[in-house]
Amino acid sequence: MLSIETIVIYKSKTGFTKRYAEFIAEDLDAEIYELHEIKIEDIDKYDTIIYGGGLYAGGINGIDFINKNIDILKKHKVIVFATGLCSGSDDEINNMKNSNFNQEQIKNIDFFYLRGGFNFNNLSIVDKVLMTLMKLKLKFKKNLNNDEKGMLSAYEHPIDFVDRENISKLINSITIKI
Ligand SMILES: Cc1cc2nc3c(=O)[nH]c(=O)nc-3n(C[C@H](O)[C@H](O)[C@H](O)COP(=O)(O)O)c2cc1C
Repeated sequence: MLSIETIVIYKSKTGFTKRYAEFIAEDLDAEIYELHEIKIEDIDKYDTIIYGGGLYAGGINGIDFINKNIDILKKHKVIVFATGLCSGSDDEINNMKNSNFNQEQIKNIDFFYLRGGFNFNNLSIVDKVLMTLMKLKLKFKKNLNNDEKGMLSAYEHPIDFVDRENISKLINSITIKI
């Protein structure tokens, strides 16, 4: 395997994205930083930039860092991963791409969804309020789908789908085999 300079940058509210970012950095022997530690000027020396953030109401936390700088990032390989609670069906993944990126960004970014989890107890006050409103909405909804049922039960029992195996496609997309 050839060594390439890789940086992993992440933003994580409750630790799910952080754990995946750490697995990826370990496997690739890459440097790893939280988003607030990095400026766009810092990334020039890296061949591959990997950004990860949790999904919040469909948006990838901190994705503006990538999207606003897409022209600068074009000369690098850019990978984005999102973590969330949903199962990650093809439709859900297409929605994630279409609501976070325009066509040009989609062309320049390799996107992966890594299933995270949900821990109500670790949320900020604001997120607790938002999620309590969503819980009320779900409670009154008829014919919940499986994801919605899972979501409701996750309020009572933290749910954790993080699995190191889930990063293998992302890792394989950048490692050069000789
Ligand atoms: C306010 C709020 C909104 C969320 N919206 C979504 C969502 O749209 N899709 C999803 O799959 N998960 C959603 N989740 C679950 C988070 O994306 C999931 O817990 C993620 O792994 C968190 O990553 P982090 O702890 O690294 O920030 C939401 C969680 C909260 C608290």
